[in-house]
Amino acid sequence: MDASMFRKLHDPGATVPALTLTIDGQTVSAEPGDSIAAVLLRLDPPFSRTTPVSGSPRTPYCMMGVCFECLASVDGVASTQTCLVQVREGMRVERQHGRRALTMAMSENAAVDDVSDVGTADPRDGMPSGVSP
Ligand code: FES
Repeated sequence: MDASMFRKLHDPGATVPALTLTIDGQTVSAEPGDSIAAVLLRLDPPFSRTTPVSGSPRTPYCMMGVCFECLASVDGVASTQTCLVQVREGMRVERQHGRRALTMAMSENAAVDDVSDVGTADPRDGMPSGVSP
């Protein structure tokens, strides 16, 4: 974490509680109230995902839910806006590479036969809160 240009500032002498989470399997410490995106910015290299087309790394930018540059997988939920989620003890975060992997189980028959609700389904179904389709 030393090479990142971002670091947490504290009042001198402050006692800061810490919790741990994993990012790509690496144990990282954070403070209650930190957003996951803030923790990602303090890592080296500071990125949250890579693009589906060129594979270039993207870094959290707006920190307020607008730019979608902070998408990562959080506790198995892909495309989570990490700037909108506070860290929790034991949380598992994986940087997202390329396109979002679909994790919904779907039977072959349902995919082929059940077209009755096409066009009426809520496009937000299955998405984490705060994520627009
Ligand atoms: S940093 Fe822009 S949406 Fe999260």
